[in-house]
Amino acid sequence: MDFELTADQREIQGLARELAEAEIVPNAAAWDRDHRFPDELYPKLAELGLMGVCIPEEYGGAGADFLSYILVLEELSRADAGVGVTVAVHTSATTLPILTFGTEEQRSRFVPPLARGEQLGAFALTESSSGSDAASLRSTAESRDNGWTLTGSKQWITNGSRAGTFILFARTDPETAGARGISCFVLDASHVVVTREEEKLGLNSSTTSDLLLERVDVDRDRLLHEEGRGFQVAMATLDGGRIGIAAQALGIAQAAYDVARTYAQEREQFGRPIADFQAIQWKLADMATEIDAARLLTYRAAWLKQRGRPHTEEGAKAKLFASEMARRQTGEAIQILGGYGYTKEFPVERYYRDAKITEIYEGTSEIQRLVIARSILGMQVREEPSISTQGTHS
Ligand code: CAA
Repeated sequence: MDFELTADQREIQGLARELAEAEIVPNAAAWDRDHRFPDELYPKLAELGLMGVCIPEEYGGAGADFLSYILVLEELSRADAGVGVTVAVHTSATTLPILTFGTEEQRSRFVPPLARGEQLGAFALTESSSGSDAASLRSTAESRDNGWTLTGSKQWITNGSRAGTFILFARTDPETAGARGISCFVLDASHVVVTREEEKLGLNSSTTSDLLLERVDVDRDRLLHEEGRGFQVAMATLDGGRIGIAAQALGIAQAAYDVARTYAQEREQFGRPIADFQAIQWKLADMATEIDAARLLTYRAAWLKQRGRPHTEEGAKAKLFASEMARRQTGEAIQILGGYGYTKEFPVERYYRDAKITEIYEGTSEIQRLVIARSILGMQVREEPSISTQGTHS
């Protein structure tokens, strides 16, 4: 067993940290306050290869491994969790499934513009009446001579109003209820209408939109994977995506810990820094321990994924623990800062608001427990998709 990052992984982590400190940290509070999507940031990430970290070089990516991508998400989310989710959905929920399930024609057509950051990606599964029960989605894809006509609506779509490429799930077989009648399509921005922007508790630098499909005609070459096997694409995608959300939660918690630790050493009460008091020491010790535990779960799940090994259970465990830990520990960070923590003078109130969503999207904590329970009780045994998304170096 080796807990050291490789030289390449450390280099990419350092690159992401430097960019985050220079371009994101100084602006994150303003983006949050103004609910502003930082359009100008993504070309800078793209220039450094951070919009396609774990995509092979032949498809326009940086050719690094999945753990490197997880390290990047952690660093970006430590600076601004809205940026973290934008890159997470773009990469693991859009670019990777096209790479994994696409034909060679689909990969070479759709992946390079995403991996080079010329376009953002979005993942459109959820609908107003289909959240945790993803297989109950109602959008339809009606078969025509040379393609399908798509009708329906989608809700809470991260990057919805900015994306150029969408992975979208619709029912191709109206007679079959549940997972079996669902197929997956690759769409362009011109196929969808953005009908509403969501106002959220946090993640204000990311966009979350409602989408409408108004009898949109798409050709046969827009079907990703096999007809009727779209639900498997969604689930396999979320298996990897959840590791990304665990990394996002980890980044947020790390940021909160960093602020709380520094504050505790500087703030004096009763004639001493509050870090001298055991009440505060124990909070910091618990934070440091739980962050470490979340990091180990997250990196292990990433390591399994990049080796093409089963990671459904491990990804769910990482997301479950990291997200609940981030919600708990960002609350503790506010407690350490006291009145200051509750104000906009310090970033910890933003971290607290941002952390909450990690317990909800890409599968709620309740769904993660369900996935873990099914796995440990031997209720689900599945083959991994055959195409490895491991990078070309390191
Ligand atoms: N990989 C591949 N295939 C899988 C799979 C996986 N991890 N999990 C299930 N499947 C397959 C099953 O093998 C089964 O296939 P067959 O029909 O061929 O046997 C099929 O999918 C149906 O499986 P289930 O019977 O287990 O399906 P279910 O209806 O019981 O649902 C669930 C399972 C785990 C509850 C699922 O619905 C789920 O994950 N729900 C949460 C949805 C979710 O995470 N949404 C996130 C939205 S995206 C988002 O949040 C992005 C963002 O903005 C950040």
